[in-house]
Amino acid sequence: MRIAPVARLEGHFAVPGDKSITHRGLMLGAITDGETRVRDWLRAADTESTLNAVRALGASAEEDGADVVIEGVGIRGFQSAEIDCGNAGTLARLLPGLLAFQDGAFELTGDESLSSRPMQRVSKPLELMGAQIETTSGKLPMRIEGRPLSGITYELPVASAQVKSAVLLAGLGASGRTTVLEPLPSRDHTELMLQAAGASLARRPNSVSVDPARALRLPEVEVPGDFSSAAPFIVAATLIPGSRVTIHDVGLNQRRTGLLDVLERMGARIGVLDRRRAGAETVGTLEVEHAALDATEITAAEVPRLIDELPLFALVAACAHGQSRVTGAYELRLKESDRTEAIVDLLRAIGAHAQSQPDGFTVQGVPARPRGGRVDARGDHRIAMLGAVAGAVSRDGVEIEGAESVAISFPGFFDLLDTLAHR
Ligand code: S3P
Repeated sequence: MRIAPVARLEGHFAVPGDKSITHRGLMLGAITDGETRVRDWLRAADTESTLNAVRALGASAEEDGADVVIEGVGIRGFQSAEIDCGNAGTLARLLPGLLAFQDGAFELTGDESLSSRPMQRVSKPLELMGAQIETTSGKLPMRIEGRPLSGITYELPVASAQVKSAVLLAGLGASGRTTVLEPLPSRDHTELMLQAAGASLARRPNSVSVDPARALRLPEVEVPGDFSSAAPFIVAATLIPGSRVTIHDVGLNQRRTGLLDVLERMGARIGVLDRRRAGAETVGTLEVEHAALDATEITAAEVPRLIDELPLFALVAACAHGQSRVTGAYELRLKESDRTEAIVDLLRAIGAHAQSQPDGFTVQGVPARPRGGRVDARGDHRIAMLGAVAGAVSRDGVEIEGAESVAISFPGFFDLLDTLAHR
């Protein structure tokens, strides 16, 4: 796919539903009593893996317009199943928490990328609770036989919402209280949704506890637009002179919007309008205009709030005045691809200057359009979208190998970009 340079970006639009919230809505809906309507769910490859998973486990799930309606089987109602998680890390990491205490046996597999990602980060704490889990050298395939679990206090070795969520979900079916200590705050969609479902949850600044639950009810999950899917357009509009976009109904959960804070301190012009609650989450409208930017540094404390936006940040840094640096982001190497290397390769391929470090990268910014060139998405949706924004921002355009991987989280991405682009 070739993305030609864009003269300016203009328009009003919304982006597809939040991927993290959709995964959670489908999984929690499957273990609650009664119906759960997941409103405006994200229909993409990753979340279809989760839809198929909950069906395989015995929950009925039907599409109804823009929603999915799930008939839950109750907390301990899953039937034995083999589950193909596809590319979905959130499914492969959260679901074991719910499977570990069921009366049944389960096998989880995934695609090549997911099968190379670490799973011990969830199997270890679950085993401490009493789970019977067999991984393949710490990776998928993973076999789980349900067992009675006991609550634990677990200190996360890495700031990971997926691991935190797996332990909390296992806590629903354990005996006694389960507490997770968080080194840094990661996204809290699981906590917000569990509270909405009536779970007994205690939140403190650096920890969260859950008590066992007999039954949960979650009649509705409102899925806001995915901030991570808005981010490519926020970045493109900021970088391309003359641009102005308005993005409606975007999820603005504080623990997801680190990119806004980073862009603002670099000099971006982003207005947040109409901030409001929508179900358990915060949403609003973003107005973004072009602005000239200065370099900045991102350190460990900020990383979890923009982990999935670090690829786009790298492009922003390449177009800013001065040298930018990211540290404390080792996790970036463990995503759908080794994103640290993918980012640095991509920036170099379009004529920008970047260097990787074990826990991050450095970018030497040049406040002008990068040249453009040919890039490899490495089968990673976020890298494909980075390539597309790089193409829009560039002088000569960018050719993307593996552009189809955007379908993991945002099937209509290229059409939307085309609609907004003036060439
Ligand atoms: C996610 C958490 C993050 C993020 C991923 C989705 C989630 O991963 O990178 O895209 O839905 O909980 P980690 O929890 O591994 O940091």
